[in-house]
Amino acid sequence: MKPTKFIAMVSYLLAFAVVNVVLQTTTTANESQRQIGYGRGGRMQGGAVSERSKEPIQPIPMSYDWDSAKIELGKKLFFEPRLSRSGWISCNSCHNLSTGGADNLPTSIGHKWLFGPINSPTVLNARFNLAQFWDGRANDLREQAKGPVANPMEMASNHELAVNVLQSIPAYVQWFKEVYRDEKITIDNIADAIAAFEETLTTPNSRFDWWLKDYDDKITDAEKDGYALFKDKGCIVCHNGFGVGGNSFQKFGIAKPYDKDTQTLGRYNVTKDEKDKYVFKVPLLRNIELTAPYFHDANTWSLSEAVNTMAEYQLGVTLADDETNRIVAFLKTLTGDQPSIIFPILPPSNENTPKPNRN
Ligand code: HEC
Ligand code: HEC
Repeated sequence: MKPTKFIAMVSYLLAFAVVNVVLQTTTTANESQRQIGYGRGGRMQGGAVSERSKEPIQPIPMSYDWDSAKIELGKKLFFEPRLSRSGWISCNSCHNLSTGGADNLPTSIGHKWLFGPINSPTVLNARFNLAQFWDGRANDLREQAKGPVANPMEMASNHELAVNVLQSIPAYVQWFKEVYRDEKITIDNIADAIAAFEETLTTPNSRFDWWLKDYDDKITDAEKDGYALFKDKGCIVCHNGFGVGGNSFQKFGIAKPYDKDTQTLGRYNVTKDEKDKYVFKVPLLRNIELTAPYFHDANTWSLSEAVNTMAEYQLGVTLADDETNRIVAFLKTLTGDQPSIIFPILPPSNENTPKPNRN
């Protein structure tokens, strides 16, 4: 066995162990609720065991809306531009739920039209990530959500100002009281509500997921071949689980150093460990056709080119055009039901609300 094959197999097994942990911690439905099998997207096969349940990719579980007052509040906050200094940028500006939860820009535009340093990943299915951000510097969605509000290049506010804005608006005070029973709004509760909303942003019912549940005719032969290639070539080693990624950190440039961006050090920034240079969280491939451009440095707008880059830099193989096309066809079966959002109406500011500041 070639050493690369061996490493691939070991990380495959590790990834699998992680998948199982994720499976246990993210599936919040208890057994009876899972049996009933109702959730957003309609009725799904509850407890039925599929022939394909041993595949290294699992169908996205249905999301159950447990605490709807909290989720509703989180949704308002996700769309709330007054959490930014300019009063103009919301989470949805860069994670647009109309366009796959991302902004389809090489790097995001933030406060004062500043361009950020890195491509914005989608918030769709982000709950399946083992950690948040390309370098995994936030452990979970709650920790992550506090970041952008105070990031000078993103929303450029600070936690105190964000709290003051919401605290000045009686409707928010009331909603927070209903959900958290506190008199005062806190940044932790803001982040908690946003994260609760983000947890509902899953995309079940992709054609591939139906195929995983034994509905054979949901994907074509070419798409099935693409999936077989995805496994045979070794893509599956890193891209697996519910999110088809998101459950390990891996070096970008295993077979060949990635020379197109040597500035972004990835996981190294968190651990300061030399071997973590150019290591990134493996991105989710769910809804991948919606979220061009690709890679942390937005190196390409073409999904075919992204697939070829992966083959070259991660696996050290060159794909024939026909193989690339089939893998791309398979990847397009991973687009699921997009969250159907009723656009929230936000309560008005008043004379006590801090004014927007564009400087
Ligand atoms: C100005 C654009 C911008 C705004 C506004 C913004 N984000 Fe982000 N978001 C990004 C970028 C860019 C990244 C990747 C940064 C990195 O990895 O270093 C990111 C990363 C994330 C991630 C991690 C996803 C993953 O796969 O690792 C989540 C979750 C997220 N943002 C949620 C939010 C929430 C919630 C808000 C509002 C409170 C928000 N973002 C506001 C641009 C933005
Ligand atoms: C050794 C682990 C590994 C293997 C094997 C691997 N990938 Fe990746 N993949 C990654 C990492 C890490 C990234 C993020 C790279 C970056 O932008 O820093 C990535 C990114 C991608 C992206 C871009 C995602 C986005 O949102 O920008 C696509 C598409 C992709 N991989 C598909 C594939 C395909 C197809 C294969 C097989 C030909 C494959 N990958 C093999 C680890 C891997």
